[in-house]
Amino acid sequence: MRERSQHRASVITVINLKGGVGKTHASWLLAAVCEERKKRVLLVDADMQANLTSSFVEEGHREPGVEALFDPAQDADPNTLIRKSVFPQIDVIPANTRLARFDLADRHLWEKTELHLSLVEPVSSLRPSYDFILFDCPPRLSVVSFAALCASDYVVIPLEAADWGAQGIVQVTAAIEEVQRHYNPRLKLLGYLVSRFKRARAYQQSYLKQLRTHFGGLAFDTVVPDLARFEQSVTDRIPITLQAPRSEEADIARALFREVEARIKALAGQSSHRRKSNVRRSTVVAA
Ligand SMILES: Nc1ncnc2c1ncn2[C@@H]1O[C@H](COP(=O)(O)OP(=O)(O)OP(=O)(O)O)[C@@H](O)[C@H]1O
Ligand SMILES: [Mg+2]
Repeated sequence: MRERSQHRASVITVINLKGGVGKTHASWLLAAVCEERKKRVLLVDADMQANLTSSFVEEGHREPGVEALFDPAQDADPNTLIRKSVFPQIDVIPANTRLARFDLADRHLWEKTELHLSLVEPVSSLRPSYDFILFDCPPRLSVVSFAALCASDYVVIPLEAADWGAQGIVQVTAAIEEVQRHYNPRLKLLGYLVSRFKRARAYQQSYLKQLRTHFGGLAFDTVVPDLARFEQSVTDRIPITLQAPRSEEADIARALFREVEARIKALAGQSSHRRKSNVRRSTVVAA
């Protein structure tokens, strides 16, 4: 009990403008390792396609889901929206098509009503109960994606080893910078994650090389290959770490998780170093 109350979740948004690049699957892999390591994780499905929801929750569309947090008329308690999955460490706030009503694309409209700040309070209140809170975003930069960024500490951008100019990376990166500037200075980019990598294709190998040169340290070392066993695990709705714990695929999930943890630690170290040097600077000024 005591340990639970000391949790402060790391909050991560998984986002890209392009569809089908492995956003939901990245959330799946991280959740799979949380289950294995007994880390409490809350998956917030921010995509009305509800792919993540349907993997973990039966009849997720019937009850209120994430849309309730965007509805000013409801003033919903986020705890009432949480559904338990059959996996003890994995909880879900489901999505459904009712989210469409709130997922405005017109920025002027949502800024007027501050809809983009809808997730900030709910996330603060849920942080103590989890080790990780993950937002799985739709392939759009509408208000729900912005709201996830406004409430998060970190961002992961999955992309394919193909022309990244065509994957909306420029727009996503600009959106992150804008959120950092105006709404959430705490937000940090954890990195670009190459997903659905087709190892046998020469052009993907060559894009991977270019991508590493282009993004440098912001490219994850872990690459998630396109493998049938990953697809099987999603289809069977069993985390890969449980379905095939000794497989290469489970090891890839663990490597991704370790890298996420290490990147969070490194960024936290940088922030505390910056805070300390600010304190030192202000002490010198005061002296
Ligand atoms: N590494 C992988 N190996 C095999 N199949 C994968 C892998 N990653 C994702 N898939 C499968 O590819 C499909 C698309 O992946 P996913 O749903 O994660 O993409 P997405 O970016 O979330 O898509 P959307 O933009 O529609 O939300 C899914 O059926 C998923 O199970
Ligand atoms: Mg998805």
